[in-house]
Amino acid sequence: MPKIIFSLFENEHLSERIRKGINAESGSYIKRQFPDKETYIRILSVVEKKDVILICSLDKPDNKFLPLLYFCKLLKDLHAKSICLVSPYLSYMRQDTQFKNGEAITSKYFANIISSLVDKLITIDPHLHRIKSLNEIYNIPCITLDASKLISKWIKNNIANPLLIGPDSESEQWVSKIAKGASAPFIILNKIRLNDNLVEIVVPKLNKYKDYTPVLVDDIISTGHTMLETIMHLKMASMPPPICIAVHAVFAKNSYRNLKKSQIKNIITTNTINHKSNQIDISKMIIRELLIKNGSDK
Ligand code: R5P
Repeated sequence: MPKIIFSLFENEHLSERIRKGINAESGSYIKRQFPDKETYIRILSVVEKKDVILICSLDKPDNKFLPLLYFCKLLKDLHAKSICLVSPYLSYMRQDTQFKNGEAITSKYFANIISSLVDKLITIDPHLHRIKSLNEIYNIPCITLDASKLISKWIKNNIANPLLIGPDSESEQWVSKIAKGASAPFIILNKIRLNDNLVEIVVPKLNKYKDYTPVLVDDIISTGHTMLETIMHLKMASMPPPICIAVHAVFAKNSYRNLKKSQIKNIITTNTINHKSNQIDISKMIIRELLIKNGSDK
């Protein structure tokens, strides 16, 4: 069945590689804003009876979401056979419960709308915490790929004597796997989030790791406070400057600049979100998945 691939909203860094890897047609469209800021979309390629693949990382999601919705509705009007959304970074995964009365459980609402728009979702390391599998909130086949092997390989090839450090219990799922793959020791710290912008980290005694290179590993760097707070504690414990690694380079506000200014050796991310810190390429993983015909998370 013919496949056509569209790069939506600044995802060209991945889509061309993926297109070549799966030998798909490149889809073309026009997207612009009317003077009143409403969105105009016109699909120029023929999509009728074709399997459509949308490459659309959903960082900074609110500006992308409505155009994505229109795009999917239009694809259906134009009789696309199926729509597979490849969203290497899947947003709205962290507000997965009602912490306070009256709060929106946006993970659930977001999943609900996406499930009504596309036939299948492929993503990488979604922030699964209280929700254990995407299929608890999405009712379409969901494939979750795992960047840990690629990160382990990068660490093995680039860092001598690494000590992996996870800033909180949520990071253990990534850090333990990455440490195993890199044949390195790891420790998990205790993080208390005081609000959106404030975290407190408790670091255990690190004396026996004095000769190691600290490698902070997390799934997301957003405000950067989790990393910054950990870096400060490592410095107080007289550890050498760490290397910070994250799967998703969200980098809200000035967090990248603030981290660069702090006492670190480097910041490395995968290219699930296009950013200058990207050094680990996830496109081959997506290509492999798209070349497999069926399959979904159970
Ligand atoms: C949270 O549990 C995640 O694993 C990250 O630690 C968190 O999202 C990082 O956020 P920030 O950079 O805003 O501290």
